[in-house]
Amino acid sequence: MFEKRDKMRIVTANQLQDWLSRGEVLEKDARGAKVLKLDDGDILKIFRSRRHPLLVRLMPDAQRFARCGERLRERGINTPSVTDYFWIDRSAGVSGCLYSPLEGSALDKIFFHERRRFDELLPQLAAYIFKLHQQGIYFRSLHLGNILLVREQCFGLIDFLDTRFKRPPLGARLVQRNFHHLRNYLTRSKISDFPWDELMRHYTIAAQPS
Ligand SMILES: Nc1ncnc2c1ncn2[C@@H]1O[C@H](COP(=O)(O)OP(=O)(O)O)[C@@H](O)[C@H]1O
Ligand SMILES: [Mg+2]
Repeated sequence: MFEKRDKMRIVTANQLQDWLSRGEVLEKDARGAKVLKLDDGDILKIFRSRRHPLLVRLMPDAQRFARCGERLRERGINTPSVTDYFWIDRSAGVSGCLYSPLEGSALDKIFFHERRRFDELLPQLAAYIFKLHQQGIYFRSLHLGNILLVREQCFGLIDFLDTRFKRPPLGARLVQRNFHHLRNYLTRSKISDFPWDELMRHYTIAAQPS
């Protein structure tokens, strides 16, 4: 599915306009819509990179995203599968991709609305993060908004553009840094009652040889 990078097609202005006018914005920032739910149920994710446009042109974010998703799936991790990706504005390094949503609930929703259920999920969540680490997966966007509960006992990842694949397992330093991402998210989101020690305790249990 991966074309030569300079062949990545450019989406027409009409098509983009159609998506933007009919889609429901799920996420936006100061630069505009970032994630839209389209009327056919697909999700359009727009990447306005902070990297230099020349670098982005060599490896467009939408293509990196598709590739990371594929590599995660090869490792048995649930992710939405990208069906198409394209340039939106090549000179500005803006690219986009389409994928069908991964069915499930984001953990932030469960944390805020079903706290008991979240607490019950903690051992499984810790084991899941440990499994990622064991496989050398450094999911830099590790936070509650980017992990979905796909079904009981089964998680999945979205927003995996910045995933790094290291020689497994991740070393202690990277594990620490990865948990820092989660900590920073909790601070940014002003979440003060997160059961951090419990999560760490369950991570340690998951890491014990059985
Ligand atoms: N594959 C998906 N399945 C279900 N919901 C999704 C999916 N992708 C995005 N979303 C929804 O859109 C929101 C933002 O998407 P995300 O990819 O995390 O973008 P951002 O980079 O803005 O964090 C998510 O929190 C989720 O609610
Ligand atoms: Mg996100």
